[in-house]
Amino acid sequence: MKQKLKIFITLVLISAIILLILLLPTMPILSEIWLPILFFTVIAMLAEYLSVFLPAGGQITVAFPISFVIILVYGPAVAILVEILSVIWEILKKRDNWYKTLFNAAQYSLSSGLAGVVYISSGGVVGTQNIINYLLPAALCALTYCLVNSILVATVISLDSGMSVSKVYRINIKEVIPSYLAEAPMGFIMAIIYVHIGILGILLFFFPLLLARQSFELYTRMRKIYLDTIRTLAATIDAKDPYTLGHSERVSHLAVQLARKLDFAETEIEYLEYAAILHDIGKIGIEDRILGKKDRLTDEEYDKIKEHPVIGASIIGSIEFLQKCSQTVLHHHERYEGGGYPHGLKGEEIPRTARLLAVVDAYDAMNSDRPYRKKLSENDILEEIERESGKQFDPAIARTFISLIKEKKVV
Ligand SMILES: [Fe+2]
Ligand SMILES: [Fe+2]
Repeated sequence: MKQKLKIFITLVLISAIILLILLLPTMPILSEIWLPILFFTVIAMLAEYLSVFLPAGGQITVAFPISFVIILVYGPAVAILVEILSVIWEILKKRDNWYKTLFNAAQYSLSSGLAGVVYISSGGVVGTQNIINYLLPAALCALTYCLVNSILVATVISLDSGMSVSKVYRINIKEVIPSYLAEAPMGFIMAIIYVHIGILGILLFFFPLLLARQSFELYTRMRKIYLDTIRTLAATIDAKDPYTLGHSERVSHLAVQLARKLDFAETEIEYLEYAAILHDIGKIGIEDRILGKKDRLTDEEYDKIKEHPVIGASIIGSIEFLQKCSQTVLHHHERYEGGGYPHGLKGEEIPRTARLLAVVDAYDAMNSDRPYRKKLSENDILEEIERESGKQFDPAIARTFISLIKEKKVV
């Protein structure tokens, strides 16, 4: 484990312990509430089971509404106690990853503890039948939980992956915060029901909540299945021509890295990834004789090859979930200064995903052996991209790409 990460986890752990010690005087008499503590511990353990993994690492769980109920009904000290109890079993089970679990326990304890302190100090009353009167303190409590939790998680992912905290925030946490804000009212209503009906009230809420989470996970899995289907499609094209074997995979891998460096939105990157994998799918409509030809192509044959973006875009355009990729595929052979194909667009008229793809596509083509020439050296390729910057390629994208390759960040 990296040194900085170790120090950070230790600091979070120490802060959580200090907070617990400070909150101990507010702890209710445990022998009176052992049953709810046991119940919430079991529920919190179940919640951990249904974690949802995020695209750039890390995970979120349904633990928040449960913690929220405990804070409002029993106070922050009990919330921390339940966090600790619910992970003991986890730590015993996953011995090799125990520090991750420990960090999670500590960060949830800190989030719950501080959120509880904010609730009480902004006028909230713990354990009252009239929680509804304390809407503002409860909202501040939820906000604190969400902030503390997301900052701690973003920091740990950034220390672990080497990405900047703001980037992790943009990639992951931005999507997590709305989910927290949606779960907060649910936690609040659960607390109201719990003080009136008890454990049964929570169960009534908990199962639909688990189902909602499960469908979110299903959606994530579906996306993976889509991607696998696309890969298979693209592999059939690469298989037609041994010289382009793995071309689509490499191009999409590089395109995603370049788009991240250029700060594209995550959804745009997702479609770019699909488009990059499929960019040459239109070659399926071109004769093998032309694709595999070792000699120079005649003008007529070259015109045939030039049809592949149009064929590709029309194939993709007919598949509903890929429609957003079709413009990228259609324009991946346009030139920045104009004169490319199929439409001879210029500069900003070309979608930026297509301008990006053009650079990465050319890089991989020059970096592989072709029937008519050997692959070029990395220096020659980068010089060529530099030379074509502003002509074939968008200069800003070309510049960022060259620095990406030079940084050797590409694997
Ligand atoms: Fe192409
Ligand atoms: Fe290509």
